[in-house]
Amino acid sequence: MFKNKLINILLIEDEEFDVKRIKKTLEAFSAQIRIEKIVADGSTALEMLSSDEFEFDIVIMDYQITGGIRGEELIRKLKGIDPCIQIIVITKMTVNITDYSFADKLIQAGAFWYCTKYPGDIEEYIYQPTDFILSIFNAYQKKVFEKERLKSNEKIEKNINDILNLRRLIGESESIVKIKADIEKCASSDVPTIISGDSGTGKELVAYNIHYQSKRKYENFVPINCGSLPHDLVESELFGYEKGAFTGAHIEKPGLFELANNGTIFLDEITELPLAAQVKLLRVIQDGQLEKLGRTENVKVNVRIISATNKNIEEEVKAKRFREDLYYRLNVVSLSIPPLRERKEDILLLLDHFLTEISIDMGKEKPRIDDDAAQFFYNYSWPGNVREIKNVVQRLLFSGDNRINLEVATRSTGMTSTVHDKNEFNSISFPKPYDIISLKEMERLVREKYFAYVRETSSSDTEAAKKLGLAPPNFHRMCKELGLK
Ligand SMILES: Nc1ncnc2c1ncn2[C@@H]1O[C@H](COP(=O)(O)OP(=O)(O)OP(=O)(O)O)[C@@H](O)[C@H]1O
Ligand SMILES: [Mg+2]
Repeated sequence: MFKNKLINILLIEDEEFDVKRIKKTLEAFSAQIRIEKIVADGSTALEMLSSDEFEFDIVIMDYQITGGIRGEELIRKLKGIDPCIQIIVITKMTVNITDYSFADKLIQAGAFWYCTKYPGDIEEYIYQPTDFILSIFNAYQKKVFEKERLKSNEKIEKNINDILNLRRLIGESESIVKIKADIEKCASSDVPTIISGDSGTGKELVAYNIHYQSKRKYENFVPINCGSLPHDLVESELFGYEKGAFTGAHIEKPGLFELANNGTIFLDEITELPLAAQVKLLRVIQDGQLEKLGRTENVKVNVRIISATNKNIEEEVKAKRFREDLYYRLNVVSLSIPPLRERKEDILLLLDHFLTEISIDMGKEKPRIDDDAAQFFYNYSWPGNVREIKNVVQRLLFSGDNRINLEVATRSTGMTSTVHDKNEFNSISFPKPYDIISLKEMERLVREKYFAYVRETSSSDTEAAKKLGLAPPNFHRMCKELGLK
């Protein structure tokens, strides 16, 4: 056991006779167990544990020592310095060995084990030697496990902080400051939350932030766009099915709710959910129970639900396309993100943020923006909201200009600025001869422009997909490829 590792011990004992007995008890195992330091009082022990000079695995401490800090207080302080250190307490025989509450107090304070010293007429050993040595090995094993657990927890925590840092909400407008505070509040509870806002305002980003700031952060965040699923597949995607539930169900399929168990599910474009699936969703919220296709008994799940919509959901309720009872269940807390044109002070901040971030990613120098170009960006209506700023920045960096003047700025938004005006789409502006781009790139720009235009003039993505003659999943995929989602 632990052949190559010497177990280092800090011994706290003020009686010379007992120090000798402890040394003798451990003698046979001196190749594996070393008493690194011996101190007679608590404060010296604490100093030693805090210093970088030594690395101890285990503390063996006498319960009755002289000096100020001793007993449970000393155990707590030692653990406070190094939570992974294991403490073995030795006590005089005078302490009643059947006193469970005494033992319990020591364990509660953070001790690993305790034993009562042999009477003074036994000079060879402090305690039954095999028990004593085994307890040291066990304590060491526990220390190694705890250290590993601490390390992996630190790693997970760091990963989560990295995720949050990458998905930071940029903006100093009053509404964004309020949303940041609301995110914190939402993260501290489990209540169903609905996020509304125009396309590209950051609904998914807000949902991410709620999840990764909540106690569910170590579990899955499962986003699903209800509008991208064909209606007849919604239920099996969300709730799963058993093997043989219908022809073609060759294997059991866990639904997205099962994948999100103990975590968060993000139901984007919630108004696109067919009525049958709405009923099942209501059951999940009410009873925490899933109705899995082909299964008689229900499956229990614990999932936090965040939903989002860029439609007026109350109108959908009035039109009976969305169940009123479900709406009230989902809408315990609601967050509304205003479009960029209503929080203009965020525009240049976001532009600068993406310019810095994306130029680092692309290994390019960050371009300078002329004052009149910045003014233009400030006044521009940004119909595609933050997503549009991101796309414009990508385009600006792609073009390679290291100074952004008014003309470059206008041109960069011109490629997407048509979404508001139907007629404008008819006049596709071609780049100047020296800026000629490949046919593939031009096709991409036209597609992007047209998709954005059709989306803006449709009440939902499902409708937009229909107008374009595309199946919703294909439409969803193409939007993603074009950077529109
Ligand atoms: N305040 C913000 N700070 C930084 N990035 C943002 C902010 N708001 C949005 N973004 C970024 O803009 C892009 C679009 O945001 P997101 O996908 O969350 O929008 P959405 O409201 O869900 O849009 P849609 O309705 O089209 O699904 C993402 O890349 C997101 O990271
Ligand atoms: Mg979204």
